[in-house]
Amino acid sequence: SEQSVAAGRPSHDPLTPVLSDTWDADRSWTLQAYRDHGGYAGLRAALAQEPADVVATVKASGLRGRGGAGFPTGMKWGFLPPPDGGPRYLVVNADESEPGTCKDIPLMMASPQALIEGVAITSYAIGCHHAFIYVRGEVLHVYRRLLRAVEEAYAAGLLGKDVQGSGFDLEVTVHAGAGAYICGEETALLDSLEGLRGQPRLKPPFPAVAGLYARPTVVNNVESIASVPSIVARGADWFTSMGTERSAGYGLFSLSGHVTRPGQYEAPLGTTLRELLDLAGGMRGGKALKFWTPGGSSTPIFTDAHLDTPLDYESVAKAGSMLGTRALQIFDETTCVVRAVSRWTDFYAHESCGKCTPCREGTYWMKQVLARIEGGQGTEADLDLLLDTCDNILGRAFCALGDGATSPVTSSIELFRAEYEAHITGGGCPFDPAAAALFD
Ligand code: NAI
Repeated sequence: SEQSVAAGRPSHDPLTPVLSDTWDADRSWTLQAYRDHGGYAGLRAALAQEPADVVATVKASGLRGRGGAGFPTGMKWGFLPPPDGGPRYLVVNADESEPGTCKDIPLMMASPQALIEGVAITSYAIGCHHAFIYVRGEVLHVYRRLLRAVEEAYAAGLLGKDVQGSGFDLEVTVHAGAGAYICGEETALLDSLEGLRGQPRLKPPFPAVAGLYARPTVVNNVESIASVPSIVARGADWFTSMGTERSAGYGLFSLSGHVTRPGQYEAPLGTTLRELLDLAGGMRGGKALKFWTPGGSSTPIFTDAHLDTPLDYESVAKAGSMLGTRALQIFDETTCVVRAVSRWTDFYAHESCGKCTPCREGTYWMKQVLARIEGGQGTEADLDLLLDTCDNILGRAFCALGDGATSPVTSSIELFRAEYEAHITGGGCPFDPAAAALFD
């Protein structure tokens, strides 16, 4: 943090455990443990206010969507049309699947009541009486934990009819998907929840206007909703005292890969990778940092030149990438960038839903071309072919999946062109295959 002071940014505590504060507590996932640590103070405070005041507090906090896009949460709630007597819904996007992204799953395992409290407060604020939590199909353990936590909350009168004697009714349904990355795209998620094949819808209309069953719907990420109780209990000023002016508060930074202590580091937005690496014990084995993702595999990669880039929405965008989900995948000097990008591309080709041609065909072709470069059968023309394919996907795909798939390819060719060329001219991968174990 000395460096951040030197760079003119305010000094701050390196870690701000709020969401993760109770994770080490005995049986932290129980209602009792959550309450022992002050849980449900936010719901009490919310129920004593008018719903519009709760929305105003979240707007004033500057909380931005923690699912990756960073859209202001309070503003999204404000997009709901005025009540017309019909239902309106809250849908929590718990379909975390982005490669490297691993914050919502631990949050739901360790502290499911924080999410449920956030669901109750948000539903009260937006006038929703039936909320859904759509959880990724593969994580059966999370699904079970959520079901149990929702049951506990019902039994304690925190959900159901007349929540805490307030006259407010709220049903919560936990729904498990069937294991498709595309269902994390909010409109594909809604189709899947309705029992249809999960594929993105055309936007607009945004879900706020016509979402679940064509009714006004707020779709928010797990971490966004779990952040609401503390904001309501402690106030917008408390939240804005952390982070930067336009990227307020704190967030979970997930460090994975070649670091000494991988894991979740909850820190103010604007923290740098250098600071996070200090907390994580540095690079594993003292090796040099080669490249990393600031926000999951859909964001352009960074190198050691970006160690001091503040990890807030504006600074990361200015440096040419996206803050995304704060999934920091760290790769050291022994890693072959072509292999890493090739693995990510395999993922996108597999998960492309097939609805639109640029993404369906483009990811398939990128996968083939990368495989032959990696295997030593590539030609010099393949690099231009890859870039041309990316160019024909970017901005032309139906949803963000296609755009995301191009990010690691274009950014890695830009930063490590010589390494691609070495595969082509040298007849294959110049790296020690043992280092590749990370991807297999
Ligand atoms: P987006 O920017 O299109 O939308 C963000 C949110 O704001 C949506 O809920 C949308 O409905 C709302 N919104 C935007 N404009 C609106 C308007 N005019 N009126 C009403 N609502 C409006 O981004 P998108 O496609 O939802 O998400 C892309 C992001 O998702 C990427 O940046 C990536 O970081 C992240 N992502 C996260 C994954 C994960 O596992 N958590 C997986 C893949 C991507």
